[in-house]
Order: sequence, then C-alpha cells, then structure tokens
Amino acid sequence: MTEILQEKSVCLQDKETSVNFIQQLPKVELHLHIEGTLEPEMMFALAERNGVTLPYNSEEEVRAAYQFSNLQSFLDIYYQGANVLLHEQDFYDLTWAYLERCHQDNVIHTEIFFDPQTHTERGVPFEVVINGIVRALDDAKDKFGISSGIIMCFLRHLDEASAFETLDQALPFKHHIVGVGLDSSELGHPPEKFRRVFEKARQEGFIAVAHAGEEGPVSNIYDSLELLKVSRIDHGVRCVDDEELVTSLAQSRMPLTVCPLSNIKLKVFDKMAQHNIVDLLRKGLCVTINSDDPAYFGGYMTDNFLAVDHCHHLSREELAQFTLNAIEASFISEEQKQQLVDRLDAYMAG
Ligand code: ADE
Ligand code: ZN
Repeated sequence: MTEILQEKSVCLQDKETSVNFIQQLPKVELHLHIEGTLEPEMMFALAERNGVTLPYNSEEEVRAAYQFSNLQSFLDIYYQGANVLLHEQDFYDLTWAYLERCHQDNVIHTEIFFDPQTHTERGVPFEVVINGIVRALDDAKDKFGISSGIIMCFLRHLDEASAFETLDQALPFKHHIVGVGLDSSELGHPPEKFRRVFEKARQEGFIAVAHAGEEGPVSNIYDSLELLKVSRIDHGVRCVDDEELVTSLAQSRMPLTVCPLSNIKLKVFDKMAQHNIVDLLRKGLCVTINSDDPAYFGGYMTDNFLAVDHCHHLSREELAQFTLNAIEASFISEEQKQQLVDRLDAYMAG
C-alpha cells in the first residue's frame, strides 16, 4: 500500500470509530417537539387511516417542500402536517416511532414537548393527546428502559386567554406534566405576553422553560429569565450578541437546549462550521445537543452529534460533556441523575 493510501485508510478507520463512539454514546434529549417527529410515511399512513386530505401527492413531494427560509416558513408546514393527528392511537403511534429512534440512538432519557393548542384548536380533546403520549412513554420505560418527562408548550402566536384556558385543561393531568414551555413564532411575541400565565403555571408546580434567542433578540433571553423565571432556555444561541450575558450564563450554568441541525435548516446559521455551540461549550456554558423537529430537519440525536463533530472535531470527553450537561439540566431527581451519570461513566470506562 502506498503511504497516501495507508493514511487514507487510517483516516477512514478513525472516522468509523468516532461514528461508532457517537452512535453508542448514552444521550439525553431535552428539546424535542413530538409533532416534529411526524415522518412523511406516517403522515400519509395517518391521513389515509383518518380520511384526511393532504396537499401533497407523495412522500417525495412532502420532503421536497421542506426547504425553509426561516422559522415561520417551517411552522406553516409543521402545523399543516399535524392535521392528520386525530385519535389517541395516532398520538401513541407518533410517540412510539420516536421512542424506537431513541432506542436506536442510545437516548436514555428524554423530555418531550407537545403543543396542546395545535390539537385542541382543531377539536381534538386535550386528554386524547396526553393519553396517547403517556401510554407510549410508559411502554418505552418498560421495553427499552428509557425514562421521560412531558413539557406542554403554549403557542406564542395565540393570545394569553388561550394559554390560560390550556393551563386549566392541563390541571387534571398535572401528574403527567413536569413543565410548561413557550414555542412558535418568536418575532413579535415576546415573553412579556405570557408573564401572568407562567406565574400561574409556576404556582401550580410546573417548571418553566421558553424558546428564546433562536431568531429573536437577546432581550427575549433576559425576559424569559426575569419575567418567566425559566429554568432552561430553549435554543438561546443569540446570547453571543451580548458578552455579559454569555458570562452570566456560564457562571449560573443556566442550560441552553441547542438544536444544531434545526438551526441550519431554519437559517439561524449559514453553515454548521459557523455554529457557536462548541464555542459556548468551551466557555463553560451548560449547552446540550437536541433534535427539535427531526422529521423536518434531517436528523435525530445521533445525526445532530455527528453533524457537530464533523465540522468542529470534538474530543470524546467533549462529546460526553454534552450528555453530562443534559443530565445536569434535566428535570429529574438527584438520584435519577446519578444513575444516568453512572451509565455514562460506565460507557466512557468501557
Ligand atoms: N415549534 C416547533 N419547533 C419550533 C422551533 N424550532 N421554534 C419555535 N417553535 C417551534
Ligand atoms: Zn423547539
């Protein structure tokens, strides 16, 4: 073998080892919209099962429509896709398919978002949605040993009254829901709009999180912290526009649930090489890797880790630090956190 060929083969072996390492690395997901896991195949299957007409002729046509210019261009298509979800079994099947992917990707704990208003506005009762999701999460605990939590998000393009109504609907299911979040169109819908709803939700015992600093300004990160009193910021990558904020996020270890492939698809960054997640990790922020809406953005957890590693060349310790950060940021007991850390340690030692 010539030297160049030898070098190439060593390189390929290195690459294969790092793909295996990432694939098998225990992972924790903290930013995942269950409606964003609706793959085109399931969209068509459910449309047929439920007699819903789709504005597409084929799965290929659906995929071809996934060219987004910003967050809103994605949301328009994403809400349209959710129209096929009508019955408890639909929410079960959707959630179960995601959990099978988690199992493949070695996701050991996941905290998933759902958007009640996307369904209740179409006449689908709150309990139909939550019961389907909970049943799948319970089955995944039994079958795969995957633990989980549920966070319900308020749609920020809707009004405060609708958010209050949703909070009321959630109260009988409080034991299933760990927190409340805020998602949908960030521009034009600042945290202030939901200050009172979040205050009530926190009084009811829900932990708070909010999407902020994805497309919107740094002030949305400050206001989510100060007005909504969130325990994590979803996305938050625009924090780099304010050096003082970056320093304070590092000092407080306030978690940012970052979604690398999502950020590229929605043009928050032009290229993965320009993404700031590794820079933030090295500055000591509690950043985590997540998939957001994997059916729309081209990848689940392993794909997101691979994409970041491909452009930023991380050490194994740095890759594992993303999981450690996610364990630290998760909404589980200290005892459960320690169990997850032990699983990660065993993997790193093995
Ligand atoms: N809903 C689903 N995905 C979202 C995202 N990335 N930002 C805001 N709202 C969302
Ligand atoms: Zn999101």
